[in-house]
Parts: sequence; structure tokens; C-alpha cells
Amino acid sequence: MGAGSQHGSIGVGLIGFGTIGTGVVKVLRDNATEIEQRLGFPLRLVRIADLDLETDRGVALDEIHFDADAKALIADPNVQIVIELIGGYDVPRKFILEAFAAGKHVVTANKALLALHGREIFGAAAAAGLDIAFEAAVGGGIPILRSLREGLAANQIQKVLGILNGTTNYVLTEMESTGEDFEVVLKRAQELGYAEADPTFDVDGIDAAHKLALLTAMAYGAELTFEEIPTEGIRGLLPLDFELAAEFGYRIKLLGVAKCHRGADGSERIEARVQPTMVPASSMLANVDGAMNAVEVLGNAVGPTLYYGAGAGEMPTASAVVADLMEIAREIQRSGAGPVAPLSYLPEHIVPKPVIPESEVAARAYLRFTARDEPGVLSRITGALGEEGVGIASVVQRETGTGAATVPVIVLTHVASEAALTAALAKIEALAEVTESPRVIRIEEDV
Ligand code: HSE
Repeated sequence: MGAGSQHGSIGVGLIGFGTIGTGVVKVLRDNATEIEQRLGFPLRLVRIADLDLETDRGVALDEIHFDADAKALIADPNVQIVIELIGGYDVPRKFILEAFAAGKHVVTANKALLALHGREIFGAAAAAGLDIAFEAAVGGGIPILRSLREGLAANQIQKVLGILNGTTNYVLTEMESTGEDFEVVLKRAQELGYAEADPTFDVDGIDAAHKLALLTAMAYGAELTFEEIPTEGIRGLLPLDFELAAEFGYRIKLLGVAKCHRGADGSERIEARVQPTMVPASSMLANVDGAMNAVEVLGNAVGPTLYYGAGAGEMPTASAVVADLMEIAREIQRSGAGPVAPLSYLPEHIVPKPVIPESEVAARAYLRFTARDEPGVLSRITGALGEEGVGIASVVQRETGTGAATVPVIVLTHVASEAALTAALAKIEALAEVTESPRVIRIEEDV
């Protein structure tokens, strides 16, 4: 039993007493009986550190020590597991490394930190023989990491597809149902508290790419590839795109895609990207609406599996944090068993894997051009696609009312390589009649 154990309990310290931290206090208090009956011993929150000592979080702290001293929390011999919930990069990185140096296990929800500094942090945990758990970092309350690490551990994972950001899924769902512009819906999302005042990480796909980097590492033993993930957000989508998507039988989702292409010689290449994607309207992922998240995982033994739930919020995220605490507490009580491999694969098997060049990826695509309404423009656009070997499935030109100088021209392609599409788009963009950069939305049929 560790230094912090009292009467068989495990001592926990919380750094960051914001929304999720408050949820953690509530879950530990409200579900203490179930937690103890499942573990065989209680979890005891002994200490909280936060710079804001004034705000009333609406939870009674009773005997929990609360001050602004995170260093003292880390050093406290009664704390065996440190929860980091402050967000950002430099400060949490320092606290997590200090916690390992002090022999403490760590639970965090910080996907950005792990996606960027994962090698250092997971390396420090492994070197110290300590655990780092981060279920709340991906999909909020959905136990997707635990499912990959344990429930699907027997499988070769073939594909992971995820709606990994609730803010963007809310915006896309609203744009589709109301026909309103992106900016109008984003403003409402901010007023409702879904989107941050600075929504860049969400709307530009960066938050989803952080999460996809973690899923890719876990699914394939591939060293984190955040910088290598081509990422495109949802800005620039128009109500017309949703209207036409519906006509073609699709819905638009910001999808994180991670696939493993395995060669006959056993070689593995990873395909990973985050971008607005059209998925068949009848698929389950297409019907994940509002701020909800979902992840589909295809394993070679199990087949397709789907995980759905709240990707953010006080109590769902706290549910994931406390589940991590329980897993680590169990490991501590079984002293000698060693920590679980946090990224599913043992550290020596997490290695860089080649990323498939984007030019080799092949898919159907929806293309939206803005062109002057002049004779011959349609044939020049379709001609350029034909010259590069991009097959056309449908073409739609929309009238926008009398006197409009330009019209949208929409092309739905057959499966085409990214290289062929890029070459055709360059030719089309150079046409004098085409007045704006084309908008491309990939189609993922096999969902
Ligand atoms: N901002 C994220 C989202 C939640 O909108 O899904 C935290 O990862």
C-alpha cells in the first residue's frame, strides 16, 4: 500500500478546480458507494489546487484541503494520484513531469498536451514505472480509449472514424436544419456556451486532430502524428452544401479518419486526416446530431463497433476522469502488477509508422465551383476533370436569381486519387470564368 493510503483508501489530488474538476468532486461524492463496492476500497480526494480560491463551485469541500499550491499538492505524501485539469501546454506539462518525479500517477484530460508532447510525457511515465491515464481527452464521457485498450485488444484495428468535436457537430447540425450561415450559427453556439470565445481549435479541426492523434497511436501503435494529420475545419461551408448533400443522399460531418493500410509483406502505412466529410445519410455516424460525439472502430475479428455519447460537459467528462482514477487505484492496490500500457501497445512497440501520402488517397468528392454564368464554362470545368481522369457522377448548376454575376457549379466525382483531383482543380482554378477557389468535400462511403 502506498504512502497515501489511509484505512486502505487511495489518496487523490486535483489540480484545476473548473467545470470538470467540480464534476470530479461531485462524482466522487455522489457515487462513493458504487466506487468503493467496485474497488473494494474508497477513493479519497484529499487536496485541490487552483489559483481561483473565490468562485463558489456549489460543492461542499468538507475536509478536502483547498489552496493555490499545486507544488505542495504534488509533494503531499497523502496524494498518490494527481489529476491535471488546467489545460494549456507549459504549466500542465511541468506539473505532470513534477508529479512523475515525485512518484505520483497522473490522470489528465489534456489532449492538446498529449498530442504535442506525448513522447516526452509517456516516456517519463514509462521511465518512472508510473501510469498516465487520459480517457477524458477523447470523446469526453465515451469510454473509447478503454474500449480500444481492453475490449478490442485482441484485434488488428483496420479503421477508426470519429465525430470528435461537439462544437463543430452542433454547428453543422444547426446549419443543416436551419439553412443559416456558419457565422450566425457559430454566434449562437457561443451564446449557448457550446463554443469558446476563441473557437479556433474547434472550428478549424485542431481539437479533433489532437484526439485523432491519440486514437491513431492507440489503434496502430503508431507514434503520435499530430503534425502529420492533414486538418481542415468547417469554415467556408455554405447552406447550399448541406442542401445538395441531402439531395445526393449524404450528410456533412467533421470526421477524423485513421486507417491502417497493411501490405502483403506485413508493412503498415497510416492514413489519418480530419476534414468535413459527406457520409451516407442512412449511416449511424450521419445521425449523430448536436453536440454529441461518436467513434466507429473496425477490428478484423470483431467487425464494426460504434461508441456514442457526450463528448464534453461537466459530468460526462468527470465520469471518464474518475474511471481512470479507479483503474490506477486498482493497480496501486495490486502493487507489483505494474501499470497498464497507457497507449495500449507496450512503449517499445509505439514506433513511427509511415504516413500514406495524401496524393495516394482515393475517394469520391463533392466539388463546389463559383463561376461566371457564361456559355461553355460547364464544359471547361468538366473537361479539365476528364483530362485528369476524374470521372463525374453528377453535375448541378444552380440559378441564383436574375442578375447574379456568378453561379455555383457542383460536381460529384467517382472515386479519384487526390493527385488527379489536385491537378484538375489547379486547371479549373486557372480558368478566367472561375472566380473563387473550389471547395472540396470528401465522401466516405464505407461508414
Ligand atoms: N471543445 C471540445 C468539443 C470539447 O467541442 O468537443 C473538449 O474536447
